[in-house]
Amino acid sequence: MKTKRIFLFVLICLVSFSCKQQTQTVQKGIAHLEKKGNTTQLIVDGKPFIALCGELTNNAATSLDYMKPVWPLLSQSNLNSVIAGISWAMIEPEEGKFNFDIVGAVINEARNNNLKLIFIWFASWKNGMSSYIPDWVKKDYKRFPRLNINENDPIELLTPLSEENRNADARAFAALMKYIKEIDSNQQTVIMIQVENEAGVLLDSRDRSDYANKAYNGPVPQELMNYIDKNRENLVPELKEAWKANGSKLSGTWEEVFGPGKPKGLVMPVRNLVPPMTQKEQDEALVTYPFYSDEVFMAWYYATYINKVVEAGKAEYPIPMFVNAWLKQREHSWPGTYPSGGPLPQVFDIWHAGGPSIDILCPDLYRPDFAYMAGLFTREGNPLFIPETGSGAQGAANLIYAVGQHNVLGFSPFGIERRIQVGDELSQCYNMISQLMPLIGEHQGLNSMGAVLLTKDNPSENIEFGDYIFHTDLRFDPFNLNSRSADLGAAMFIMTTPDEFYIGGTGMSITLSQKNPEFKAGLATVEEGTFAEGKWIPGRRLAGDDTGQGRNLRLGNGYNVIRVTLYSYK
Ligand code: DGJ
Repeated sequence: MKTKRIFLFVLICLVSFSCKQQTQTVQKGIAHLEKKGNTTQLIVDGKPFIALCGELTNNAATSLDYMKPVWPLLSQSNLNSVIAGISWAMIEPEEGKFNFDIVGAVINEARNNNLKLIFIWFASWKNGMSSYIPDWVKKDYKRFPRLNINENDPIELLTPLSEENRNADARAFAALMKYIKEIDSNQQTVIMIQVENEAGVLLDSRDRSDYANKAYNGPVPQELMNYIDKNRENLVPELKEAWKANGSKLSGTWEEVFGPGKPKGLVMPVRNLVPPMTQKEQDEALVTYPFYSDEVFMAWYYATYINKVVEAGKAEYPIPMFVNAWLKQREHSWPGTYPSGGPLPQVFDIWHAGGPSIDILCPDLYRPDFAYMAGLFTREGNPLFIPETGSGAQGAANLIYAVGQHNVLGFSPFGIERRIQVGDELSQCYNMISQLMPLIGEHQGLNSMGAVLLTKDNPSENIEFGDYIFHTDLRFDPFNLNSRSADLGAAMFIMTTPDEFYIGGTGMSITLSQKNPEFKAGLATVEEGTFAEGKWIPGRRLAGDDTGQGRNLRLGNGYNVIRVTLYSYK
């Protein structure tokens, strides 16, 4: 009897130990971010991963019928993941009563089509406003207060200054993440979550309700002041300047510490196009920071609110979570014509101080100065992830640049099911990046990758690796000033040894020189080829006409990889 009991006890211990081990492995194996060298990698299924995505139109994933033809279109176009919206209104139609049927079905379909999923939590905010909150929240405006603009004018936008709003959103999000964990933690189709969408105040630069005015005229929270004090040397330049210009104070009201807000009586137009903004004023506002203190104030409240929502979700299932920004643009250059307080580069510090559990601050990047904006979003070690952008040839070129130059973790043209076509530029480019993925993963964070993006305004550029300088040029024949030119080109370079490079891209010619002017650089072996499961399969070996008689490389139409070895001579 006694031995039987001991046996039973040992058995129970073994079973519970192995269950614990299993949960730990699942937790360990889920998608996560990992630091490597000077960068951050996204690890999915145990390997570095770039989400080659598209974002569905807002409501696509609310109908399985609508999605039926979309799934195969996406996987045949070489996407490895898709961004899909889920709304608070849909999963919690009555307070505390959840329905996750559509979530489960969408996960299933994505899995059947070999796609990973990134969900957008359309909850308190979507493009500034609150159109995806459940009806029971919409109707109960006393319990769930709205934000006020101008002189006490409420708009359909939940205020981030309300704990009741925040807690209701966080409870629903936690329930969603619990459900995702239950049905997906073994197969891990869902790899990341975007929490809310383009948060920030529209139609005014800040909340003007009585409680918001009281907070604005009260002291800046100590937590934010401590952050600024501790990081005073490394703050983003816009904050550093405003703070210094106002006396580097460590206490005071928002305007005392950060400068003036919007003058009383000025009504914010929907776009800058409406008078009184002249074109000159619009362009000025793009590079200056009017009403900065209003923007900082709102950034603090949005960041701390969303941070709580993220924490509630991560307590259930801690996959990476990010937020996205509607950027300043020519027709939206005042805070309030773009969502004021959103995670834009000029308020990164506020988001880092108020939202430490948020993993990434992302740009919805439609601006023409793609390279510049992508660079701004790597400030303060922020990993680059682009949840919304354009597609086509320009999108493909931007992607090559973002991968090679900024280790982008994900790239996602918006409205993908209406834009992508099997075999188009983006899908060809996704194929090229997928082939290169194992090599990219090895080289992320090692300073052995780089990229150029060539446009009509920037038709040539040099990039250096070790002893060599690559001169990239949109002209087909770099030795002929009158040569025909491509309109767009992009190339990424991976240096595998000091003399060996893999170059993937499109639309340019490349000549070489040695950094040491006493030497010249020559092309040794040049091969076309492809990668299959990380192994290089050479195609044609190139010289003669295909390398300008040994003087240059060419990346023509399409998205191709070449392997090049170099040597020096004099
Ligand atoms: C930005 C938003 O984040 C998206 O949800 C979508 O509405 C697009 N704009 C439309 O262009």
